[in-house]
Amino acid sequence: MQFFCTFAENNLNMKMESFVSIADCSKADILHLMEGTAHFERNPNQNVLEGKVCATLFFEPSTRTRLSFETAINRLGGRVIGFSDASTTSSAKGETLKDTIKMVSNYADVIIMRHHLEGAARYASEVTDIPIINAGDGANQHPSQTLLDLYSIYKTQQRLDNLAITMVGDLKYGRTVHSLLNGMSHFKPTFHFVAPEELRLPDIYKQFLDAQGISYFEHTDFSPEVIDKSDILYMTRVQRERFTDLMEYEKVKNIYVLTNAMLDGSKPNLRVLHPLPRVNEIALDVDDNPKAYYFEQAKNGLYARQAIICNVLEIK
Ligand code: CP
Repeated sequence: MQFFCTFAENNLNMKMESFVSIADCSKADILHLMEGTAHFERNPNQNVLEGKVCATLFFEPSTRTRLSFETAINRLGGRVIGFSDASTTSSAKGETLKDTIKMVSNYADVIIMRHHLEGAARYASEVTDIPIINAGDGANQHPSQTLLDLYSIYKTQQRLDNLAITMVGDLKYGRTVHSLLNGMSHFKPTFHFVAPEELRLPDIYKQFLDAQGISYFEHTDFSPEVIDKSDILYMTRVQRERFTDLMEYEKVKNIYVLTNAMLDGSKPNLRVLHPLPRVNEIALDVDDNPKAYYFEQAKNGLYARQAIICNVLEIK
C-alpha cells in the first residue's frame, strides 16, 4: 500500500467498538482509517461483509451519508435494514431511543445512526453491545464526514500538516465544522473562521483550539484577503433546521455566496470543499472551476465509510 506509507504511526492495531466522535480517535487512529479509505478506493468491491446485517437508522434527513453507507455495505457484500423516515417506525408511537436501539441490536451487527439530539449516538453506544456509527448527532459531531474531509484534503494537497483552512458560513450549528476542526487539530493547521456574529464558532471549540495551541482568526467579511491565503475553503450551509427563530435564519441565510470570480486570486493549490447539501452559498459557476472539489469529496465518502464499517466490525 503506497498511499499513506509515509506516516510512521500507522502500524498499529486499532480497537474501536463504536465510532461516535472524531475526538475519540488518536492521530494514529485517523491515519489508520485513511489508509483503509485509500485501500477501498482502489478496491471498492470485496465480499468482506458477507453474512453481516447493517442497520441504518436515520431519524433526520440525509442523501449522501445514508446512501454512501448503504452503497458501502452493498459493495462489501453485506445486507442493509433500516429506515430513512422515523415517522414510519414505532418511535412515532412513543418508543424510546433506548428500546429502539436494543431491538435493532437483536437483528443487526452494526447500527449506523443519525439523530437530531446531540449525544444520541453516544447514548446509543452505551445501551447496546453492537457498534454504533454516528452519522450525525444534532449540531455536535459528524465523524464519518470528517474522515472523508481529511481524506479529500490529503488527496488534493498531498499533505495534512501546516495547511490554512478557511471555514465559512454556519460555524455555530455546523457539525461537520466541529468535527473537522477536531480531526485537523493533529496536523498543525491555521484556521480562518468566517461567520456572521450570530453564527460564530461556539466558545467551547475555541477553548479546545487554544488548549491545543492552534492558531485561528475570526472574520465577519468573506474577503479576498482571506480566500487568497487559504489552501482549503470549506463552505457550509446555514442550518435552517437548527434555528428556533426562523426570522433569525432569514437574516443570515444568504450572507456569504462564493462566486467563480472570487477565486481569481486564490492559490493554485486551493480547493473548495463543502459537505453538501448546498443551498446557495456556492454559485453554480464555481462548479466548473478545477478548484471545486465538493462532488469528488462526496464520492470519497463511500470509501471512508467502507473503512469505518470494517474497522468497527474488526474486519482486517
Ligand atoms: N454531508 C452530509 O451529511 O450530507 P447528507 O445530509 O445528505 O447526508
